Amino acid sequence: MEYKNIMVEKKDKIGVIKINRPKVLNALNIETIKEITQSIGDLEQDQKIKVTILTGEGDKAFIAGADISTMVKMTAIEAKEFSELGHNMLNKIQNSRLIFIAAVNGYALGGGCETFMACDIVYAGKNAKIGQPEINLGIHPGFGGTQRLPRLIGRMKAIELLLTGRNLSADEAERIGLVNKVIEDEKLMEEVEKLANQIASKSSVQTSFIKELVNKGIDIDLNKANALEISYFSSSFSTYDQKEGMKAFLEKRKPIFKGK
Ligand code: CAA
Repeated sequence: MEYKNIMVEKKDKIGVIKINRPKVLNALNIETIKEITQSIGDLEQDQKIKVTILTGEGDKAFIAGADISTMVKMTAIEAKEFSELGHNMLNKIQNSRLIFIAAVNGYALGGGCETFMACDIVYAGKNAKIGQPEINLGIHPGFGGTQRLPRLIGRMKAIELLLTGRNLSADEAERIGLVNKVIEDEKLMEEVEKLANQIASKSSVQTSFIKELVNKGIDIDLNKANALEISYFSSSFSTYDQKEGMKAFLEKRKPIFKGK
C-alpha cells in the first residue's frame, strides 16, 4: 500500500515505519495516525515480520506531538474522535504480536512521547528532547500520556512533568526509566537494528507471549497475573520452539526457532 505521510520498509524479519513529515517535525495529523495504524495491520499480516522499528524522518524529530494546526480548529466532538484515533493507534502497538522498538531521533514531545511509551523498547539519540508540553497549549495529553507516564516513571515524577511541561534530555529520561538506552545520534539506527535483529532471532511465540504477559499482568492483581503466567508457561510446552530450544541446549548447538 502507498502512504503519503509515512514510509514503510521491510528488512528480512524487521519492519520499519518512518513518519515522514519532517517540515512539521513529524507532527501527527489525522491522516498520519490512520496511516500508521493501517501500516501496523499490514506488517502484522506478513508472518515473516517479527519486530518493528518506529522512527521519524530527518535528524530533528521523532514526533513533535499531535499536529497543533489540526487541533486548533477542533470542536469538543472532533477532539474526542482525534483522541480515540490516537489511543486506537497506540493500543494497536501495545497489543500487537510484533515487538515495537522506538528509535527516538530528536524531539519526542506530547503525542511523540505518548507514542514511544506504547512501544516495547525505546532507544533515544543523545540529543533527543522528551516531554509532555500540552499544558503550555492549555490542554493535557490526549493519547495516553496521563496514564502511561505514571505507570512508567511513578506518580509524582509524572505529575511534575505533566504540570510543568518541561523537556527532559535523553540522559535524564534514561535515568528515570523513560527510555531504555541513550545512543550517540549517528549510531542510533545501527544500534536499534542490531537490537531488532537480536530479538527477531528468538522464538517469536515467546516474544509475543512475554509482551502479552507483561502488558496484561501489569494492570491486574498479582495472583491473577501469576495464574496467567502458569497458563502461558504450560502452553509453551506444546510448541516446537520449546522442544527445539531445550534440545539444542543439551546438544550444545544454537537453536533454530520456527515461531511455532
Ligand atoms: N504541530 C504542528 N506543527 C508543528 C508541531 C506540532 N506539534 N511542532 C512543530 N511544528 C512545525 C512548526 O509550526 C514549524 O512550522 P513552520 O516552519 O511552518 O513554521 C515547523 O514544525 C518547525 O518547527 P519550529 O520552527 O517551531 O522549530 P524549532 O526548532 O524552533 O522548535 C520545537 C522545535 C521546540 C519542537 C517546537 O516546534 C515546538 O514546541 N513544537 C510543539 C511541541 C508541542 O507542543 N507538542 C505537543 C503537541 S499537543 C499533543 O501532542 C496533544 C496530544 O497528546 C494528543
